[in-house]
Amino acid sequence: MNNKAMVMAIGLTALSNIQLTAQAADVDAGRDAFETCRGCHSSPGYSNVYPTYYVPKIGGQVARYTVAALTAYKESNRPRGTMMANSYDLSEKKIENIAAYLATVTDGSTRANANGGDAANGEKLAATCLACHNDDTNAGATNPRLAGQHANYMERAMQQYQSGARNNALMQSTLEGLSADELKDIAAYFTSLKGLTATN
Ligand code: HEC
Ligand code: HEC
Repeated sequence: MNNKAMVMAIGLTALSNIQLTAQAADVDAGRDAFETCRGCHSSPGYSNVYPTYYVPKIGGQVARYTVAALTAYKESNRPRGTMMANSYDLSEKKIENIAAYLATVTDGSTRANANGGDAANGEKLAATCLACHNDDTNAGATNPRLAGQHANYMERAMQQYQSGARNNALMQSTLEGLSADELKDIAAYFTSLKGLTATN
């Protein structure tokens, strides 16, 4: 196993060890708890003021990833932007309910904001990503859906993995060596696909 494969294997094991009780999650309670989040996450074109990028689409996101993301903000393992203030008082149970609710949202807008990158080149570069980011939304899936995500949010997320600002050894090693232009093209490719929706 080379180093990269090793890091990936470790990452996968770490994720599968996160214990979740998906069946116990309450979708209705999750919908209620999400009311305070709609101001930002339900406006298809809502842009974060500084730095400027679109608020990510989270409708239809894989539940286990949403739990991981909210927990990372809460535990300061991920730079918050405007998110931390909204997640620090979320209990584990509330996070699971919200994640279960978001996974059921499939009827919102599918329009994503493109970035002018070369989606055809991005598709070639993304070949190695599809093993994990294959738009699998089943309850056992742990990797985030990228299809239909806003391009500039995705570019920023990838830069944060590269710099280590967003703490994830697996994604850091996977994206190592890709240039800013390559990240832009990869983001353009995923943005062009149908998938995630706004949470109207
Ligand atoms: C003031 C605007 C705002 C509010 C209110 C808000 N968010 Fe966010 N949210 C953001 C921004 C901006 C990001 C991207 C931050 C980053 O770059 O990591 C984000 C990221 C996320 C992510 C990670 C998405 C991903 O693909 O990794 C989740 C999940 C999320 N928010 C859920 C929520 C929930 C649940 C609430 C309510 C409790 C909420 N948000 C309230 C602006 C907001
Ligand atoms: C071995 C599985 C695997 C491979 C291969 C992989 N990823 Fe990931 N990716 C993940 C996991 C797991 C996460 C969630 C990490 C976290 O919690 O921050 C992630 C997160 C991401 C995110 C952030 C999503 C969000 O909503 O914020 C982006 C963007 C991303 N990956 C892009 C890529 C690209 C581009 C490639 C190929 C060059 C790739 N990934 C290859 C597993 C993988």
